[in-house]
Amino acid sequence: MLRLAAPGPLAGMNALVTSGPTYEAIDPVRFIGNRSSGKQGHAIAAALAAAGASTTLVSGPTAEPDPAGCKVIHIESASEMLAAAQGALPADIAICAAAVADWRPAQLANQKMKKREGGEPPRIELATNPDILATLSAPGPQRPRLVIGFAAETERVAEFAQAKRRKKQCDWILANDVSPATGTFGGAENEVHFITASGAESWPRLTKRALATRLVDRIAQHFGKSVA
Ligand code: CTP
Ligand code: CA
Repeated sequence: MLRLAAPGPLAGMNALVTSGPTYEAIDPVRFIGNRSSGKQGHAIAAALAAAGASTTLVSGPTAEPDPAGCKVIHIESASEMLAAAQGALPADIAICAAAVADWRPAQLANQKMKKREGGEPPRIELATNPDILATLSAPGPQRPRLVIGFAAETERVAEFAQAKRRKKQCDWILANDVSPATGTFGGAENEVHFITASGAESWPRLTKRALATRLVDRIAQHFGKSVA
């Protein structure tokens, strides 16, 4: 007998997720990057797709396989991530889980930079990257109805994250403590403060997959969709 799956709670909605690090080229062989496994962002994209949302994942370089049921766009730099994210609009939901490099080399060397005997190391001038979360959150006709960011902090986590949420004008922030002792980077678990305009909730330590499911349930609730 053929059984059709029930439509998920987010059926008919479009979602956009950024995940992984960005790489900012110094020359053809070197880059500046951030620590990020992409595990959390990829798990969120998979959970959105499983809930029925039509999901685009814009991913920096990671070892994670493309999640099932998502359209995946692979990029390297923050500028490419922004262009791909904007190209995926309109969306009802945008979740920025990527660890975007805040700066890029101001100049890209076309040839590999060579060491010189007894020479000084090169000085690399940096330029500021576009902020994808802030750009997507800015008021305008293309603004997704729900924009969610992450905040990586090493101290005063909930307080700094609430300030970040206001500054970037996103709706919710998941704040995590990325002090080395917590093992968040590359690990299978995550512990976050869930921050909205009305305050902060501390969520228990969860696997990145379980956290993704909990977040997607919360999103469905926000849109008045039953999670069954
Ligand atoms: N983010 C982004 N584009 C950037 C920088 C950050 O979209 N150029 C997003 C991240 O995906 C995350 C949120 O902004 O959802 C917060 O990132 P974080 O690095 O914690 O904050 P920053 O604003 O970059 O501030 P800082 O690194 O100085 O703490
Ligand atoms: Ca940053």
